[in-house]
Amino acid sequence: MKKSKNIILTGATGGVGSEISKLLVDSGMNLLLVSRDEKKLKQLQEKLLKRRDGAFVKFIAIDFNNPEKVEESVDDMFKIFGGKIDVLINNAGIGYHSKITSVDLDELKEVFAINALSPIILTSKLFKHIAKSDFGHVINISSILGSRAMERTATYTASKHALSGFAKVLRIEGAKDKVRVTTIEPGAIETSFIKRTHDAETKKLFSKRKLIKIEPKVIAEWVLKVIKTDSSVCPEILQIMPQDQIV
Ligand SMILES: NC(=O)c1ccc[n+]([C@@H]2O[C@H](COP(=O)([O-])OP(=O)(O)OC[C@H]3O[C@@H](n4cnc5c(N)ncnc54)[C@H](OP(=O)(O)O)[C@@H]3O)[C@@H](O)[C@H]2O)c1
Repeated sequence: MKKSKNIILTGATGGVGSEISKLLVDSGMNLLLVSRDEKKLKQLQEKLLKRRDGAFVKFIAIDFNNPEKVEESVDDMFKIFGGKIDVLINNAGIGYHSKITSVDLDELKEVFAINALSPIILTSKLFKHIAKSDFGHVINISSILGSRAMERTATYTASKHALSGFAKVLRIEGAKDKVRVTTIEPGAIETSFIKRTHDAETKKLFSKRKLIKIEPKVIAEWVLKVIKTDSSVCPEILQIMPQDQIV
């Protein structure tokens, strides 16, 4: 029997998020899209609703740079899904890349708020609902820099290590409630992600790399595969790299 799951997806409007949202809707899942920009969310919702008759797609705009607001939004998320939440996909993330000597405090705080504090508080507050599901699952889109390192990515790497560390504890504490925890750690993906970096030297260096980046759809396919894996099995850490990227 086909079971529809209620899924919260953050960073839904981005390169990876929008591909995940399409595959999930096509697979019959019910979706709550979360991002910052209401206009982009509405546009994505309209596109998704056209993909499948009877699709359930709602959205909520929240600024993850404000973890207090993220915490406050949990009741709304709960109500939108009528109290049943099966899967949380923590996908929202940003990076400002530069050398360690150029770390800017405001950017450091923003990167940690969006990549670590907000997903951690969101997961923590949603946990008791997810634990009631027969398919409870938290999926974090971290980064290969959640376990390895690369020059000029210090704040991003530190924030993704924080998220990956949280996931390890969550998997231990969540096991008795049968909540699965999967951390996906991709290498370079073909999205607009790098555009945020404004350090000219770093931007030039990174854009000169001759990598064949991963298509966002490939990451989305792995997310769907992980969700569909039998609930007695937990893919814990998936590192998905461009064949020629050495980190
Ligand atoms: N691209 C890569 O090379 C790469 C590699 C490894 C891992 N990742 C990870 O993959 C995930 C998705 O990245 P992507 O490549 O799809 O990036 P992207 O295209 O830049 O999308 C980022 C998403 O995060 C949301 N977001 C940004 N700031 C936000 C805020 N303050 N509050 C709420 N939402 C916010 C954006 O929403 P708005 O449009 O509303 O701002 C957008 O939906 C991230 O966690 C990233 O770290 C990316």
